[in-house]
Amino acid sequence: MIVQRVVLNSRPGKNGVPMAENFRLEQSTIADTVQAGQVRVKTLYLSVDPYMRCRMNEDTGSDYLQPWQLSEVADGGGIGVVEESKHQNLAKGDFVTSFTWPWQTVAILDGNSLQKLVPQLVNGRLSYFLGAAGITGLTALLGIREKGHVAVGANQTMVVSGAAGACGSLAGQIGRLEGCSRVVGIAGTDEKCSILVQEMGFDAAINYKKGDVAKQLRELCPGGVDVYFDNVGGDISDAVISQMNQNSHIILCGQISQYNKDVPYPPPLPADTEKIRKEKNITRERFLVLNYMDKQEASVLQLCQWIQEGKLKVRTFRFNLWPLILFPTMRGLISLSLALLLCLRIEQTF
Ligand SMILES: NC(=O)c1ccc[n+]([C@@H]2O[C@H](COP(=O)([O-])OP(=O)(O)OC[C@H]3O[C@@H](n4cnc5c(N)ncnc54)[C@H](OP(=O)(O)O)[C@@H]3O)[C@@H](O)[C@H]2O)c1
Repeated sequence: MIVQRVVLNSRPGKNGVPMAENFRLEQSTIADTVQAGQVRVKTLYLSVDPYMRCRMNEDTGSDYLQPWQLSEVADGGGIGVVEESKHQNLAKGDFVTSFTWPWQTVAILDGNSLQKLVPQLVNGRLSYFLGAAGITGLTALLGIREKGHVAVGANQTMVVSGAAGACGSLAGQIGRLEGCSRVVGIAGTDEKCSILVQEMGFDAAINYKKGDVAKQLRELCPGGVDVYFDNVGGDISDAVISQMNQNSHIILCGQISQYNKDVPYPPPLPADTEKIRKEKNITRERFLVLNYMDKQEASVLQLCQWIQEGKLKVRTFRFNLWPLILFPTMRGLISLSLALLLCLRIEQTF
């Protein structure tokens, strides 16, 4: 059977910005029949995530991340539907997911590597299992629970950077649900800031591309910052940390502003910021969601319950990507994340 797939075409270099040309769309062949224990799946959704930037390097810098190999199919979180099964627990029509889904229209996979999904848990919005009810939601929820020290009634102010991203938009809402009395987001456009406040229930949002972030934080967080959900690192985090209270907590989720640089993870704070952190006894422990998979099942159920109750707002938009495959000249016009994908559609937060 002929399938389409996306392979790594070239590496951007540790200090390079990834380009669409780093990937190649090509045809490939898979077997016509599945073996015992295998299933044939049709890809429905793929998740394109910041950690994949590290997988584009020959050395990912992390022992839990394998590099993508040149001319080999890329992979990551994905969802698909079973078309044919020779696995005892999976049947035609089942929806399944995996962290190592190949970027391929149709694939033959080991049934034991797949997790069966229950669409009713997310009101039929299957793609949520890659977002709000998947690793993204788990990262926001478990990051707050494991590293945030949020307590109901403690009158805490939380600041979220990368607040309009997949993790950040959930982290702010979950911070409120878990007990924070004030939540302020930091994002890169006025439109994103307005959505955070008007749709996602943030108390305020700062456009970090306009004006002085530290000054705006002082105005919007008059009692200082108790919990900082850090997705971005760099100058934004230095500004937030300068406003943090004694014995407060940083949830070190990610440092996306540093991913195109050859720096260790987590990057050390600049000396002035580190001095403030030490003097104020601010915790900054590394958080990795994969270390808490024993809490996955209960946490996904919590996230699904909030989604069903309308307490967790999820904003997505959908692209139909077939025209990009059919009319290759259009591909030069699109952004990297679109060019990466070959599936029928993707849904992204913002
Ligand atoms: N610790 C874990 O286990 C774990 C698990 C999953 C994800 N993560 C981390 O969580 C973070 C967010 O991931 P995500 O899935 O939410 O990604 P995402 O949906 O792509 O959102 C990332 C956001 O970061 C902002 N951003 C990008 N470059 C920036 C820069 N140079 N300076 C400031 N902001 C920038 C963008 O917003 P603007 O347009 O507003 O700038 C974007 O919305 C990443 O750092 C990721 O590595 C960690």
